[in-house]
Amino acid sequence: MKIKDIQVLKNLSSQGNETIKTTIFLEDGRQESIVVPAGISAGKYEAKNVSCDEAIKQTETIKNDLLNIDWTQESLDTKLVSLNLGGNTSLAISAAFWKINNVERNNAKPQKFPKLLMLLFEGGKHGNPNLTIQEFMIVEESLEKAISDFKKMKQYLVDQKIETTVGAEGGFSPLSFNNNSVLSTIKTIFPDVRIALDTAGSFRQETLGYKELIDNYNIFYLEDPFSDEDWEKWSDFYNQFGQKILIVGDDLTVTSPTRIQKALEKKVINAVIIKPNQNGTISGTFEAIKLARENELKIIVSHRGDDTDDDWIVDFAVHAQADYVKFGGVDRGERIAKYNRLLELGMH
Ligand code: PGA
Ligand code: ZN
Repeated sequence: MKIKDIQVLKNLSSQGNETIKTTIFLEDGRQESIVVPAGISAGKYEAKNVSCDEAIKQTETIKNDLLNIDWTQESLDTKLVSLNLGGNTSLAISAAFWKINNVERNNAKPQKFPKLLMLLFEGGKHGNPNLTIQEFMIVEESLEKAISDFKKMKQYLVDQKIETTVGAEGGFSPLSFNNNSVLSTIKTIFPDVRIALDTAGSFRQETLGYKELIDNYNIFYLEDPFSDEDWEKWSDFYNQFGQKILIVGDDLTVTSPTRIQKALEKKVINAVIIKPNQNGTISGTFEAIKLARENELKIIVSHRGDDTDDDWIVDFAVHAQADYVKFGGVDRGERIAKYNRLLELGMH
């Protein structure tokens, strides 16, 4: 496929930050755009973004190198990597190219949808810092049920007159709550639901440590229980709980085949977060997914804290046959955009 032109414009993210919107025009007349997201609690090993102005400059500078060549996704991505661009510059081009051929968007409805990790409460860098756990999610098999559970939680907070803000990803973030009150509220409203937590490597033990959390609540998933350098703690934790719950790498593994390989060798994860912008290209992201699949890791495709109205990540997740997805709470337009896309694709 030959690229005829690439345009890049300034856009605003969900946090009001500048990001880029990149459009690829093919010689055959097709075109697609991507608006790239960013992390709020980004891992230190992620592909590094450059400023919006710099990303625009990079795109303008290299675009002539990409025109009139018959690219495949792989050859384009190899070229992008060789140009040493910012992660945002590179992913925007790579993902816009991928989107043009995306079967979910253009063709038949998918057969199988991932399970949803519905975000109910949010803390850490995403909300009220009294909640040291960044994300409290519940697992849902259907979109309808997920939406109705989110609303049920909202109604409970309204009925109890609990003042709350909305976090970066659309979860509730009540000012008077701490980790324990969130967990006991979830347990009260949804006694049998399975709970997923992202501690983003910065869990501070309050009254409960991980063992007590897992014993007292129906925790089936823990993301980044320790920082991305604490291999020994990860390893001890995996030995203790690896048979019982999903132990998920995000900042630890940053959608990098090298980091995922290291985590596999050290035997510390049985599931992995996939965020294409942590990697920087679509082919690199698929390489990470392939490695994860070959090693029987569960795959969770995720949005970002500082996301955009773009919904392409939904098509990507369905195409990649993710086991789970994280698209936030049912609040804030950029999160709703993802749920709307799931509806359009036929998920109920
Ligand atoms: P981020 O956080 O996108 O703000 O980095 C989300 C997560 O840690 O899962
Ligand atoms: Zn995370």
